[in-house]
Amino acid sequence: MLVGKRVLVVGSGGREHALVWALARSPEVERIYTTPGNEGMAQLAVKVQVNADDPEALARWAKENRIDLTVVGPEAFLAKGLADTFQNHGLAVFGPTKAAARLESSKVFAKEFMARHRIPTAKFKVFDDYNEAAAYIQSTPGPWVVKADGLAAGKGVVVANNRKEALAAVEAMMVSQRFGQAGNRVVIEEKLDGEELSVMAVTDGREFRMLLPAQDHKRVGDGDQGPNTGGMGAYAPTTLLTPGLKQRIAQEILAPAINGIAAEGAPFVGVLYAGLMITPDGPQVIEFNVRFGDPETQAVLVLIESDLYKLLDAAANGRLQEHPELKWREGAAACVVMASGGYPGDYSSGLPITGLDTLEGDETVIFHAGTRLVDGTWVTNGGRVLNVVGLGKTLADALDQAYRRIETIKFSGAHFRRDIGWRELQRR
Ligand code: AMP
Ligand code: GLY
Repeated sequence: MLVGKRVLVVGSGGREHALVWALARSPEVERIYTTPGNEGMAQLAVKVQVNADDPEALARWAKENRIDLTVVGPEAFLAKGLADTFQNHGLAVFGPTKAAARLESSKVFAKEFMARHRIPTAKFKVFDDYNEAAAYIQSTPGPWVVKADGLAAGKGVVVANNRKEALAAVEAMMVSQRFGQAGNRVVIEEKLDGEELSVMAVTDGREFRMLLPAQDHKRVGDGDQGPNTGGMGAYAPTTLLTPGLKQRIAQEILAPAINGIAAEGAPFVGVLYAGLMITPDGPQVIEFNVRFGDPETQAVLVLIESDLYKLLDAAANGRLQEHPELKWREGAAACVVMASGGYPGDYSSGLPITGLDTLEGDETVIFHAGTRLVDGTWVTNGGRVLNVVGLGKTLADALDQAYRRIETIKFSGAHFRRDIGWRELQRR
């Protein structure tokens, strides 16, 4: 008799809800557990009361509960060595070790790694002394991009418009320690011009399979105005990725990164996410992430037709070579983020939300990002509250579905961008 698989998904945002949703469609999967999870996933996954900050305890729990595969969402757990602990216990885990996760957890490591392996990226310098960093900015023409070395929840990057802003960024990171230890070292790099593209590849450390290309929308306001956020929406696929560009990205970026990190003794298992700038000279790496992108994943996974469990299981167990090419649903998907009033600045939580009785319609899926269920009522519980995903034959259809669904959801102060996918719509 066939025994169904048990999967554990670590994380609690819209990305993890999308992972749970896609894994639940696999005929192989009998049960999904999640920690900490969110209540929006409750129909699909069982919330577990074991803290992922204690990898030993979580690994013991996974053993006792015969978990076949653990999928890790957020980078913070990987940077602390969750995958190492699971591997040491002989547990299959989809996500890189602490050493491989340095591609995201240390910008200095990532930049020097790219230089060693000739992976195209912006020219850069590393500083661990404030005076030297400031002197460098004083003596160069700019423009400058200033990056804190360590993890700073996506906020440790300043694209400076002028010398004053660049100096203020270095001061905030290295002197005022706005990001704590993460800012003790900084990278100062040249500013790249072009359009941004998100490419994710599932890898077992040798082989890789690219997921559909996507585009994120980082700025809070329409027309890409206002401060950066964790991402206000995404769509997939994008025609920005031409077949020729796809081949270049595979050959010049993904293959050398995956082979390079393995050659350095830290094979990478999981999703390697390349945040790229498509410049007139070709693709350049802005950053690597060592996990699924958020909110790109919400737009990409609703289109996957291949069995996600089989894919991630093959990668976690070094069998990706045997895995067929990925299959995707025809058409497009668009994810629009509904955020709390004030986000990405201060916002309040606990505001009641209406319109969430069903999460799935004919051509829409809703993923919970920052919500809570209080006495049977959904309330806001974070900056990014909901991810409303529309599907359609074209991007315009997908957007139409998403925006129509959004009109039926209400909470006080809610805001969202009305122009997700504008670059792609303009291209057509
Ligand atoms: P990150 O937090 O590393 O994702 O960077 C945030 C954003 O800063 C990126 O999505 C880009 O829009 C921008 N950025 C980072 N590095 C550069 C660069 N070298 N040139 C231009 N823009 C950059
Ligand atoms: N969407 C960008 C990220 O996941 O970091």
